[in-house]
Amino acid sequence: MDMDQLLAQVVQDIEPQIGSGVVADYIPALAQVDPAQFGIAVALPDGSVHGTGDWTEPFSLQSISKLFTLALALSENDESIWPRVGREPSGNAFNSLVQLEYENGIPRNPFINAGALVVTDHLAGVVGDAADSVLDFLRAEADNPQIDCDDDVAASEAAHADRNLALAHFLASYDNIRGDVPRVVDQYVRQCAIAINCRDLALAGLFLARHGLRRDGSRMLSPGQTKRINAVMLTCGTYDAAGEFAYRVGLPGKSGVGGGILAVVPGRCSVAVWGPGLDKRGNSVAGVAALDRFTALTDWSVF
Ligand code: DON
Repeated sequence: MDMDQLLAQVVQDIEPQIGSGVVADYIPALAQVDPAQFGIAVALPDGSVHGTGDWTEPFSLQSISKLFTLALALSENDESIWPRVGREPSGNAFNSLVQLEYENGIPRNPFINAGALVVTDHLAGVVGDAADSVLDFLRAEADNPQIDCDDDVAASEAAHADRNLALAHFLASYDNIRGDVPRVVDQYVRQCAIAINCRDLALAGLFLARHGLRRDGSRMLSPGQTKRINAVMLTCGTYDAAGEFAYRVGLPGKSGVGGGILAVVPGRCSVAVWGPGLDKRGNSVAGVAALDRFTALTDWSVF
């Protein structure tokens, strides 16, 4: 299979969808992004990367960061996060508060905001600063020391963080945030505000296709842990659209309101797509369409 040709075909097929959807505006800095951009990159197990379109243009990582904090929290065989967060789809919006009270402060999964705040708090307890830890990981896996937090996006999100602060304070009332709440939310905001492009994101996600092995060959996660992260991505990675995403794409995937999605074909590749226009559930319209075409053309899926 000629991957460059295949990616060109994907982009041609989804051309009418590029620019559709609505750019996230509840974080004002994201509302400035031109919606008519699209990029896709595929990283293969040997570390080579193929890409097309705006695949070297940085975008806001946002909720895709939740995947990296979870992987870092689980690394070195630390499973102690699980009593604090579940593994079921929530069926609710990513920033919803409603389930938390009647489920006693245990978020449904690590990828909704409540669950990610718990994971960030846990990781901060181990490494000090969860956002710095994610940055170090992304830089190492992409071999790109330039990856950094976008301070304007972080400041913009911090100025509109009432909902995440409310979630974190509520979690703290159940002793499920143990650090200082504003500090945990600050780290969460900075991990979300990391700017990254499709090339680097595909490389950073390759450990999930390589059964837990990092770029340098060291083991980050056991094959079993990697399987489980991929499973949680499949069932919870695109929120209340996870069923539709599995139906259309058939791969574990994690989306962010910056318009990026990272998908994994275990054993074969990682795929990063980016299109800033979102559907009602906060997933990239062009990104989902591209992954749909990618799995149709390659016949690569987990099903
Ligand atoms: O906390 C938030 O609302 C954002 N920093 C991240 C949300 C997000 O990316 C949801 N993804 N689709």
